[in-house]
Amino acid sequence: MYNSDQLLRMVNDAIAALPLEREPQELYAPIRYVLSLGGKRIRPILMLMAYNLYREDVEPCLMPAIGLETYHNFTLLHDDLMDRAEMRRGKACVHQKWDENTAILSGDNMLILAFHYMMQCDKKNMSAVMQIFSKTAIEIDEGQQYDINFETRSDVTESEYIEMIRLKTSVLLACALQIGATLADAPEQDTRALYRFGERLGLAFQLQDDYLDVYGDPAVFGKKIGGDILCNKKTFMLINALHNASDTDRATLRQWFLEKDCNPEEKIHAITELYTKIGVDRMAKEQIDAYFVEAEACLFEVNLPEERKQVLRNFAHGLMGRQN
Ligand code: IPE
Ligand code: IPE
Ligand code: MG
Ligand code: MG
Ligand code: MG
Repeated sequence: MYNSDQLLRMVNDAIAALPLEREPQELYAPIRYVLSLGGKRIRPILMLMAYNLYREDVEPCLMPAIGLETYHNFTLLHDDLMDRAEMRRGKACVHQKWDENTAILSGDNMLILAFHYMMQCDKKNMSAVMQIFSKTAIEIDEGQQYDINFETRSDVTESEYIEMIRLKTSVLLACALQIGATLADAPEQDTRALYRFGERLGLAFQLQDDYLDVYGDPAVFGKKIGGDILCNKKTFMLINALHNASDTDRATLRQWFLEKDCNPEEKIHAITELYTKIGVDRMAKEQIDAYFVEAEACLFEVNLPEERKQVLRNFAHGLMGRQN
């Protein structure tokens, strides 16, 4: 069985070998740029790990894994445009380094490339794989739309938020595991349990991302701190801050949403102080732990010896301690 470092190397080598030295340069240079900036490669690693639970040689799963990572990177190009982000993986976002049209078209190209790579799998399972993948991609668009819709609402509930992050983030982790298991002809029950594991892990993962967006170290996180605050993103922390604040603090929070021409650093600072005062940083951490425990429980339903599942358990555990 492979460990996560070995799988990461395999994924990075396969990405480096993609035939992306093509014309026109204006289309492909941004694609090579974003794919070469690293990132954690969580999704392809999860897919290969799920496959590797049942098959020793992971090579037949490598191109679909690269397809999923290409898809993820496409979502980042468009997400950064929508979120007005400046930095990604410690470097300028594509729409900043080039321009908005570049982020749109290079992103579109990556979406199609993703399907092209995903199809390079065992013919017997191809139809099932493409069905899982396209269903997931549609759900992610739905999640992204809710995320945008919520920016201009102030009555978003915690359960609406959880469903939104399930759609925009969790289903991709879940799909990675499901495709890996499907390609390995895993039993139906295991595949379903692995999907649920990914879904719960994804919720913890996105909550952690939202937490780091406020409390992370920018040098390690690789994104600008406070981006969610500036976009009025309705995160778990913001929803719970509104819920638990005193009337005065709630009014202050609501006032900040309405500010159009304020100093961004001042807004980030003021809202972060309120979060800490209200204690939503602690609440977020507790919720992250709770989802992680739920994720771990799903692994018990995978009908394999415990030691076989340890790689997956360790990887998930490592993600929970991440700072980037
Ligand atoms: C960023 O995903 C988008 C979210 C779902 C939070 P990652 O945190 O996996 O980004 P990279 O690929 O490691 O840069
Ligand atoms: C991630 O949401 C969801 C997708 C990219 C589909 P975020 O907007 O929180 O991701 P980051 O923080 O920009 O990576
Ligand atoms: Mg976003
Ligand atoms: Mg974003
Ligand atoms: Mg984020």
